[in-house]
Amino acid sequence: MVRNHIAVIDFGSQYTQLIVRRIRELGFFSKLYQPGELPACGEPAAVILSGGPRSVTEEGAPDIDLEVLRAMGVPVLGVCYGMQLLSQKLGGYVAPGNTREYGPARLVPNNSPLFDGLSPNSQIWMSHSDTVKQQPPGATVAGCNQDGVPVALQFAPQWFGIQFHPEVSHSHEGIKILANFLKLAPHAEPFRIESFKAELIAMIQERAHGREIVCGVSGGVDSTVLAVLLKEAKVPHRAIFVDTGLMRKDEADEVERQFQQLGVRIQTIHAGERFLAALAGEGDPEKKRKIIGNLFIDVFWEAAANVEMLAQGTLYPDVIESATSGSIASKIKTHHNRVDRIMDLAKEGRVLEPLSELFKDEVRALGRALHIPADILGRHPFPGPGLAVRCPGEITEDKLSIIRDADAIWMGMLKSHGLYDKVWQACATLIPVKTVGVKGDERSYEFAISLRAVTSEDAMTADWARLPYDFLAQVSNAILNGVKGINRVLYDISTKPPASIEWE
Ligand code: XMP
Repeated sequence: MVRNHIAVIDFGSQYTQLIVRRIRELGFFSKLYQPGELPACGEPAAVILSGGPRSVTEEGAPDIDLEVLRAMGVPVLGVCYGMQLLSQKLGGYVAPGNTREYGPARLVPNNSPLFDGLSPNSQIWMSHSDTVKQQPPGATVAGCNQDGVPVALQFAPQWFGIQFHPEVSHSHEGIKILANFLKLAPHAEPFRIESFKAELIAMIQERAHGREIVCGVSGGVDSTVLAVLLKEAKVPHRAIFVDTGLMRKDEADEVERQFQQLGVRIQTIHAGERFLAALAGEGDPEKKRKIIGNLFIDVFWEAAANVEMLAQGTLYPDVIESATSGSIASKIKTHHNRVDRIMDLAKEGRVLEPLSELFKDEVRALGRALHIPADILGRHPFPGPGLAVRCPGEITEDKLSIIRDADAIWMGMLKSHGLYDKVWQACATLIPVKTVGVKGDERSYEFAISLRAVTSEDAMTADWARLPYDFLAQVSNAILNGVKGINRVLYDISTKPPASIEWE
């Protein structure tokens, strides 16, 4: 399906995913490949070799087949490790560094098309230890740092290497550098969501081949887009909604209404009691997650009996996180989309993940192309384990009820004050510690609620939203007056990292 795209070869840098993202922001389709997958890129319009933590001088360091790359006959950009690898393979000398150069530098371009239109002394971001001591024969210097040390090389008319990371925002004009590089790739096809939608629908029809496809829906953006996509593809399908009892106030009813409005028939399984019973007495966050994840699969599987094909709303960042097993990200999050039963089906070619090449904003764009209303597409992310991760320690129906009531007021007021769409995500978390307060003339001894609203690009990092004090004061009053069982409202001013967005 992917033609004339920008292939990014992953040498393991923590920034590799960002390269793909930036290319997509520039309006071109881009995909990540492992070094050994180079031949599988097909006919890309350009290739970018990413950075990586290893030294190209180490034995067994990740490598690529230069002949395959040459045969593609397309522009190549090596970033950091990618540049060092090209330098070494083309006959230069790369020396392992004893120390790591990390931080800002200034770029002094040397009349290179890569740096067209850049401001003088533009800030670039370095993060490397190896250095190119001797350039390969025929290479020219495309740019230096402020001390005259080469930081960019041109190996061939369309082959470049840069020592710094254009994909990070600390390289102030990095996106311009990537745009200049893409200008050298005339076949790079603009990424148009409408044509991508048509391709997805054709792919679903071909893969389904008359078989029934079952998908799980939650009311969230990804699964909603997926279900509507299946409907548009006119393949036999069934959408199952598992009400875990860990949903927000009236959410189960709203999900049913939402799908009715979208013309998608859903089968609702009310399993709240089973989930609460399974969670009874458990306070450990990871064990809670596992109980919920496993039970969810059990309940879903019972409903999906004899499933012929399963469709999942897995997104591109999840695929990347799962692929880089051993990464910190993969240890923090448990991926329910990759449990054994699903992997078994996948081996038989019975799992469809149509959104697996898309980032969240692209899924929203696809949703718009499918005419899904803006209020649905603009919904904040909601975690799979639901309110469980907002109820630290043991879960009880009473605690859930407090969280639901506080959350309803919090979300309602964010919406009515025009702030909901300005934050990435907001949540209300119960702090299961009783503190003393005064209600009327009486002493109270009750729990606290912590409100959180964050700004973020992709939930990997987040900052707390600077909401107006007056607004927070109104929300606090509304919650203290309207929610039984609490006498204190806090606003969480923690960044991620070190805090995560959710409390568990
Ligand atoms: P954290 O708390 O890790 O959250 O900063 C990052 C984003 O992921 C959501 N989240 C989850 N989503 N299953 C999900 O589907 C989960 O187990 C899960 N845990 C966190 C969280 O709401 C935020 O958007």
